[in-house]
Amino acid sequence: MKKEIRRVVLVGTGFVGMSFAYSLINQGGTEELVLIDVNKDKAEGEAMDLSHGIPFGPEKINIWAGTYEDCKTADVVVITAGVNQQPGETRLALVERNAKIMRDVVKNVMASGFNGILLVASNPVDVLTYIAWQESGLPKHRVIGTGTTLDTARLRHEIGKYLKVDPRNVHGYIVGEHGDTETPLWSHTTVGVKPILDIVKDHPEFTKEDLDKIYVNVRDAAYHIIDRKRATYYGIGMCTTRLVKAILNDENCVLPVSAYLEGQYGLHDIFTGVPAIINRDGVREVFDLNITEDELKQLTKSVSILKETLDTVR
Ligand code: 2OP
Repeated sequence: MKKEIRRVVLVGTGFVGMSFAYSLINQGGTEELVLIDVNKDKAEGEAMDLSHGIPFGPEKINIWAGTYEDCKTADVVVITAGVNQQPGETRLALVERNAKIMRDVVKNVMASGFNGILLVASNPVDVLTYIAWQESGLPKHRVIGTGTTLDTARLRHEIGKYLKVDPRNVHGYIVGEHGDTETPLWSHTTVGVKPILDIVKDHPEFTKEDLDKIYVNVRDAAYHIIDRKRATYYGIGMCTTRLVKAILNDENCVLPVSAYLEGQYGLHDIFTGVPAIINRDGVREVFDLNITEDELKQLTKSVSILKETLDTVR
């Protein structure tokens, strides 16, 4: 039987894009990886450099610096192109510059006849995912943003550190904007199968204030990293690899991607981070969890700020 040749195209070979590419080739999972950048030399240099590592990797992957024509048969096009935050700058502040870049990139991708899944990582990711969807004309379930997948990983890491448990046994989600108004769903967070709110009740040394500290550490993580090393890229790069593999392997796994809301949580016509089932067709289902009144209030506020920002670039 002919082996399926899966193709991933990456648009944007900056730190985030190349951290994604590097983690993808080290984890394997695609037969082809195409790099596109306005700086063709950069794309070519990155393709050459990555290719020389393949003999040490888990799988043979054909990597090249390509053009938008190469998107035609791609399964997934990952978009990391755009400017990133400077120290102290919010993600929303990037919207005007990156909306223009996003529209241009998606127009070129679609001109190739692309008919796969668009995965957006550029910031502000929720607004840019909406722009990408509008510009692409693709069905909404086939346009996905990295959403609060990285924030959720940060949440699990922080709780694991606090409680000295394996973060893989911490279950819970950050929802809403990938940014300053993101919201933890404490009502649905468990360690193993024990609700974290029961742990707070049973352990006087672990208080609600500790949960608030954990949330602030998660929400502000990028600022602290950017203050120290000028950018973040490994976390978002590996997060993007996780999402690409969930799509290529038809996993039907649950991840808090930036997905289109059509009534979930009483919210409509916006992309934002919510737990959703992801498979080879994109978003199979967006969960509509039974969250607390306060969580719903915070999520609604987050979405209203995203809509205000979107309106400035529609
Ligand atoms: C992050 O949260 C900057 O959005 C990027 O690491």
